Amino acid sequence: MKDNPKGVIGLDIGTSRIVAAQREGDSDQFNAQLNAFVTIPFSKLTENSLKREEVPHAVIDGQILIYGNESARMADLLGKEIRRPMTRGILNANEQQSLAQIAEIVKTTLPEGSKGSKLCFSIPAPSLGQEENLTYHEATLRQLLEQLGYPDVRSVNEGVAVVYSELEDTNYTGIGVSCGGGLCNISLAYMSVPVLSFSVPKGGDFIDTSAAGVTGEMVNRIRLIKEESFRFNGNLGDKVMQAIAVYYDDMIQAIVQGLRTALTGSRHVPKFGRPAPLVLSGGGVLPHGFRERFEKALQAAALPIPISEIRLAKDPLNTTARGALVAALSE
Ligand SMILES: Nc1ncnc2c1ncn2[C@@H]1O[C@H](COP(=O)(O)OP(=O)(O)OP(=O)(O)O)[C@@H](O)[C@H]1O
Ligand SMILES: [Mg+2]
Repeated sequence: MKDNPKGVIGLDIGTSRIVAAQREGDSDQFNAQLNAFVTIPFSKLTENSLKREEVPHAVIDGQILIYGNESARMADLLGKEIRRPMTRGILNANEQQSLAQIAEIVKTTLPEGSKGSKLCFSIPAPSLGQEENLTYHEATLRQLLEQLGYPDVRSVNEGVAVVYSELEDTNYTGIGVSCGGGLCNISLAYMSVPVLSFSVPKGGDFIDTSAAGVTGEMVNRIRLIKEESFRFNGNLGDKVMQAIAVYYDDMIQAIVQGLRTALTGSRHVPKFGRPAPLVLSGGGVLPHGFRERFEKALQAAALPIPISEIRLAKDPLNTTARGALVAALSE
């Protein structure tokens, strides 16, 4: 990314990927890294190769830690699993050093020379019916970003960020859904005001782990297959594809039923006055046929509010970062 000395940055700190966004003229620029790392034995030769290829890495305790995008390929080649600083949308308390590692990965996504910029980062919503404490996650990331040189930091809810990114045409009224790696985040906003937000603890990782469990494949391998060749319909001949489809449906049902519960249970069912759109974003919506599958499930669930259309975000992997950027720019 280009220098952006006193600019504004949107940052999506996701379980699976970290994406930084900034605006240059009329266009938004994105820089993404996998929020993951893998440890390999140290050798001078490997270290030099990584340096030459500009692969983010560090040497710690006689081992090489490879951060970001390259960690997945390396793990797959070596038959290892990648490790994650975050799980289910928040900092992974079981992964020691997760803060140091996330700091390294975040650094590689932020534009050089952008210190001092105003920055807005995404945080998940609590899961439905739970009063999870997200304060630790949010406050820790805020502190980390301040230490990295960004004094003006605020956060935005992920589902709300989807609305900011995609629903300018309805004056930021509608439902934003982000199907991520750790969670699905859902928010309903009326004229940009967040009315209701929640998350569902099933996302891409749930699909990968569950499909790995029933097929005996490695989780990371399932993820790569899912990303590279999975599509809805026509999976009957292939056990892995079939398993992925089953858990995808499970995730879709969790979102739709969550929406139904949230809307029916809320004392004041939001009345938009007219049908509002629902936007689908996040890496999970990319497989061919996802939108149609989701639409069918939503129709069957008969929500208490009318939906005008179900659309895919323009750029599903970058939607949250773009929404965080819109939030930061609007301040
Ligand atoms: N082409 C693709 N087809 C299917 N799934 C994909 C594709 N690309 C990425 N994914 C999946 O999308 C998920 C990552 O999406 P995303 O980057 O939106 O998540 P995240 O924001 O990091 O996670 P979260 O919001 O849950 O914290 C992963 O499960 C990944 O396997
Ligand atoms: Mg996300």
